[in-house]
Amino acid sequence: PHSSTPRHFLDIKDLTGDEIRAILNMASRVKAKQDGRRFPLHPDSPLSGRALGLMMARPSTRTRVSFEVGMKQLGGNVSVLSPSDMQLGRGESIADTARVLSRFLDVIVLRTGEDESLRELARWSSVPVINGLTPISHPIQILADVMTFEEHRGPIEGRTIAWIGDGNNVATSLIEASALLGFHLRLATPDEFDPSEEAIVWARSNGANIITTRDPHEAAEGADAVITDTWVSMGDDDAEERQRAFRPYQITEELMENAASDALFMHCLPAHVGEEVTEGVFESDASVVFDEAENRLHSQKGLLLWCFGFDEIF
Ligand code: CP
Ligand code: NVA
Repeated sequence: PHSSTPRHFLDIKDLTGDEIRAILNMASRVKAKQDGRRFPLHPDSPLSGRALGLMMARPSTRTRVSFEVGMKQLGGNVSVLSPSDMQLGRGESIADTARVLSRFLDVIVLRTGEDESLRELARWSSVPVINGLTPISHPIQILADVMTFEEHRGPIEGRTIAWIGDGNNVATSLIEASALLGFHLRLATPDEFDPSEEAIVWARSNGANIITTRDPHEAAEGADAVITDTWVSMGDDDAEERQRAFRPYQITEELMENAASDALFMHCLPAHVGEEVTEGVFESDASVVFDEAENRLHSQKGLLLWCFGFDEIF
């Protein structure tokens, strides 16, 4: 492994609250500078001459396109890499791949079905590695979620967020963020699909206020935002059991009525409307899911700038 540690972004909990805030501030600044689809590259293209490697070992729409477009808007280049087409697919080690790619690239995004692969890549890479989703966590999603909540409702600190459904990768990153950003989190999950105990223990020991329950109504009561995700994540092979277990956890109009009168509905997408959320809620005024998707672009531009050592811009 290399001597000086690059600014990796593997998990929310690896950063400080101030670092997350710096990323979100830069994200808002670059978003405000954007004029429609055009992004003025001023004072100079901050990432000009830099190259991003986008390694997606699992399907992706938002992560892939937002990183590709965002890096180019900041003046950089992008190589889209499909791990199965690389020598990795024929057994070249992650350690060697990381050391080679570090000679060509300036930052690497990896989406993988094996969390350990991400950790191994980061261990050997001398350039920043960004977690593009693993079965364990999805930290970039939470940057966009916090940004979206705050655009609509102001500071998230002290507010109450309800997570209803699967205690999955996105939930883990949300749990970590609740400690660093100081929001109250209530998670309602069915038996067998609990959120990560390790994440909850870490978050609570860092000041988080987290309630876990089996009752979606208890979680939603008075909440400022209700968040859910697909019942069947990439790599899950127990879809039938999940459909049964999660049925009572669907986000319905009635459930949203239990939340605060101006509660937001959020979802990282892709959604399965009619499963985890009714069409009525998904299409309602409370639903900010497409703002949330757009903010993937802006928040990841903030993140890229942070990885390259910026703490503020413009
Ligand atoms: N929310 C999210 O990460 O979407 P993709 O799987 O399309 O990247
Ligand atoms: N929990 C989902 C998120 C997709 C963006 C999955 O891992 O498939």
